[in-house]
Amino acid sequence: SAAPLIDPFHRAISYLRVSVTDRCDFRCTYCMAEHMTFLPKADLLSLEELDRLCTSFIGLGVEKLRITGGEPLVRKGILTFFEAMARHLQTGALKELTLTTNGSQLGKYAQALADLGVKRINVSLDTLDPAKFAQITRWGRLPQVLDGIAAAKAAGLRVKINAVALQGFNEDEQFSLTEWCAREGHDLTWIEVMPMGEIEPARLGQYWSLRELRRRYEDRYSVTDLAERTGGPARYARLEESGQKIGFITPLTHNFCESCNRVRLTCTGELYMCLGQEDMADLRAPLRASPDDALLEQAIRAAIARKPKGHDFDYSRQSVSGQMTRHMSHTGG
Ligand code: GTP
Ligand code: 5AD
Ligand code: SF4
Repeated sequence: SAAPLIDPFHRAISYLRVSVTDRCDFRCTYCMAEHMTFLPKADLLSLEELDRLCTSFIGLGVEKLRITGGEPLVRKGILTFFEAMARHLQTGALKELTLTTNGSQLGKYAQALADLGVKRINVSLDTLDPAKFAQITRWGRLPQVLDGIAAAKAAGLRVKINAVALQGFNEDEQFSLTEWCAREGHDLTWIEVMPMGEIEPARLGQYWSLRELRRRYEDRYSVTDLAERTGGPARYARLEESGQKIGFITPLTHNFCESCNRVRLTCTGELYMCLGQEDMADLRAPLRASPDDALLEQAIRAAIARKPKGHDFDYSRQSVSGQMTRHMSHTGG
């Protein structure tokens, strides 16, 4: 079979994140501007083209596929795409097919996703307060998301809650969110906010270091570090009193780029080799140039050969550097 994808820093690329749409039914303030100009639908790759791209990556050694957006479940025909990707689970070429979602459409899709072989999903949820939820998402309805999460659980999906740690926003919910996850049987991962998209002055004060959040856990619980990894950037610890698993994603306080195993594909066929760098490779041209995959594979290898060492984010309450103009929703995180 083909030689695996290895980057200049000897990192094997086994994880592809695929943003299937730049659209979302919410507008989380740290992710999108209030008024976003979305891509014309005609610019999107078709689901068949996305299938061909993902299949090429899988042929080159990608074993984990995470579908993102925008909100992946608002893309028309998305189940057909999951169905297409599920065939790679059946052959064993793909070890994990999963998604990161805001949860709003899970009531409709959770069972079908589970039936197609999705085992666990990550759901973004920063607060359990309906008014604060409406504020951070700009208009989202919390009960709809909680119902979606319940549907996922009922369908047998493991749920990991993603909470972006935001000073002055959900600091006061660290323990209530933790206890809710323990009761519901969900894992919880905290994420340091990254400077993606134009930052309004108000956002500067939002950064909340996970070092501090972790200290607060240690004051209340016995915290044991776990060796296990899920192939993503999170490091995990167990709270002994509740037995639950907490993930920490710390691009600012503990850079994890040296173990990076992933690249990200957008819904127009751009390949971003790093979340925190502007460089990208256009895969749409080689995709459309020929029905034969040789050109495409060559373009993928050439892109991996220029994967940078890591991001330059440096973000404190006082200042920001490594700022990206690109919004998080462009590449799905
Ligand atoms: P698991 O499979 O559960 O490990 O998922 P994951 O953490 O890889 O994916 P998820 O979509 O839940 O992303 C959680 C957070 O990690 C988001 O804020 C992403 O932007 C961030 N993230 C994922 N990959 C990278 C990366 O390579 N660099 C940085 N800086 N952040 C990343
Ligand atoms: N910094 C950190 N995480 C972010 N996410 C969206 N924008 C940001 C940001 N600026 C998170 C979402 C979702 C995941 C894919 O990325 O909450 O859980
Ligand atoms: Fe939508 Fe997710 Fe971005 Fe929120 S974080 S606006 S739910 S894509």
